[in-house]
Amino acid sequence: MAAMAAKLMRAVQYDGYGGGASALKHVEVPIPTPKKDEVLLKLEAVSINPINWKIQKGLLRPIYPPKFPYIPVTDVAGEVVEVGQGVQRFKAGDKVVAYLNSSNGGGFAEYATAGESWTVARPPEVSAAEAAGLPVAGLTAHQCLTRAAGVKLDGTGPQKNILVTAASGGVGHYAVQLAKLGNTHVTATCGGRNIDFVKSLGADEVLDYKTPEGAALNSPSGRKYDAVIHCSTGIPWSTFEPNLSPNGKVIDITPSPSALLTFALKKLTFSKKQLVPQFLSAKAENLDYLVKLVKEGKLKTVIDSKHPLSKAEDAWAKSIDGHATGKIIVEP
Ligand SMILES: NC(=O)c1ccc[n+]([C@@H]2O[C@H](COP(=O)([O-])OP(=O)(O)OC[C@H]3O[C@@H](n4cnc5c(N)ncnc54)[C@H](OP(=O)(O)O)[C@@H]3O)[C@@H](O)[C@H]2O)c1
Repeated sequence: MAAMAAKLMRAVQYDGYGGGASALKHVEVPIPTPKKDEVLLKLEAVSINPINWKIQKGLLRPIYPPKFPYIPVTDVAGEVVEVGQGVQRFKAGDKVVAYLNSSNGGGFAEYATAGESWTVARPPEVSAAEAAGLPVAGLTAHQCLTRAAGVKLDGTGPQKNILVTAASGGVGHYAVQLAKLGNTHVTATCGGRNIDFVKSLGADEVLDYKTPEGAALNSPSGRKYDAVIHCSTGIPWSTFEPNLSPNGKVIDITPSPSALLTFALKKLTFSKKQLVPQFLSAKAENLDYLVKLVKEGKLKTVIDSKHPLSKAEDAWAKSIDGHATGKIIVEP
């Protein structure tokens, strides 16, 4: 007897390294079956992060070697349609946001499976697109501020001067808003067109990165930074160093080989000023916290653009271009 045909879904995948947006293929593949500890989600919105296309470029081969064909994207929001036998916290019909493991991906599709432990309830006040923006970008901003920079988001703790570079981007726009929940003075950098936008997020002073003062990272009010949440790239230590307070730290989320060398040198020489490479170690409880902040109106996801799954390659190309304001969303 012929096996019953699996139900199919639309998805977008790539078959090997390289090729950018034009290597994305629209396919029909079987709807995945949730394992014991997984939920099956009908996706409503997903968001793109630069790591998604960096994996396609092969830049993260040692950490995330994808199995081809590979359906990219990890940050998803949708509705639970089926649960594995061991799932306790969710049932069909629940609205959620989830982080999918980068090794598996799966977000560029109509359906995806997510581990229960990486899935968080989404209240009706938080739209699928707002929630989908949060996992990688929001959690990275949260981790840099609370762990590496030591900012307490309940507003207690000593005042800190924070610099956020690329404050108009996915991570940066969350970092500015979260930093302002703490006892901080925030300086931010962005392009000239986004100065008013970044001020509206709560930044106390904003520098245009294309001006000499912006390129030098000089605080207009003369402050020295206790922590830099460094979301742009290509700024040498010699530019940061004179702008740091005596114990200032540069928290670098895209550390280059020369940044890693600086990190090692500062450690070895017991320098008080430090460069701290930072990689996301995602925690569901922190995602839950961010969802609650959005619900309470204390944090917002700013949406650069929305694209249907049928035009996923446009969203992909936009992210590679590097000029998004906030998050790029794809809707299956
Ligand atoms: N370590 C980790 O775990 C982790 C997690 C998330 C992200 N990341 C990395 O962090 C970086 C930022 O990610 P993202 O999602 O925020 O990127 P993104 O959303 O693509 O950032 C785009 C924004 O950056 C701005 N920008 C670019 N160069 C700038 C500069 N020199 N100074 C000021 N602003 C600049 C652009 O402004 P204009 O359009 O005006 O140029 C644009 O608004 C990426 O390299 C990403 O791979 C690392």
